[in-house]
Amino acid sequence: MNLQPATDLATQAVHVLETGARRPFAPSAELLRGAGLIRELTFEGVTEPQSQPVVDRHLNEPEVNDPGAASMLAALRAASPLMRWNDIHDGYGGEPGMEHFCDNFSFAALASPPNWAGGVAVASKTVGLTFTLQGPDVYYPDHAHKAIEIYYVIAGKALWKRGGEPWVERYPGDIILHTAGMRHAMQTRDEPLIAMAVWITDVESPIAVVRA
Ligand SMILES: [Fe+2]
Repeated sequence: MNLQPATDLATQAVHVLETGARRPFAPSAELLRGAGLIRELTFEGVTEPQSQPVVDRHLNEPEVNDPGAASMLAALRAASPLMRWNDIHDGYGGEPGMEHFCDNFSFAALASPPNWAGGVAVASKTVGLTFTLQGPDVYYPDHAHKAIEIYYVIAGKALWKRGGEPWVERYPGDIILHTAGMRHAMQTRDEPLIAMAVWITDVESPIAVVRA
């Protein structure tokens, strides 16, 4: 099987992180760390790639003006058939009030801890490279993890909350850093949100919903 689309997507991820690191006030050290870790990934095979109709629809609908995000979206579409899209019921299925979110959120990795790895994903204890798809009108409630996380918005406008900061509208091409343990939440409106999430530390740390 041709694994080049996975390599191309990882290359695109490195590019947006390195480009982002040169922006004024960017968290450059974290972005360059993420880029360096992704550069080391090598894709060797595919087990159980799996595409879901809901993912295919949301992945193929959006149009993006930002050039970096548009290139990333094209690379993600090309690599998607190699990736295993997972729902999140296993992680949050027992949590109250999470049904709508769980039914309308999916993620696929290029690198992840061995217990979530699937499709072309590389099992890694140093970096998590995940692509997320959050449907329209979906609230991803406050949650937190020890891992330092970089988000890159690929498609869709969404509201974002970091720690105690107010909600901020985020657009394709935006980069958002979540420091270790910082709570964060995302709310979509009429558009799906497609994003890249890069964990650069503590990739095996659990995710906890924060209720208070
Ligand atoms: Fe997170």
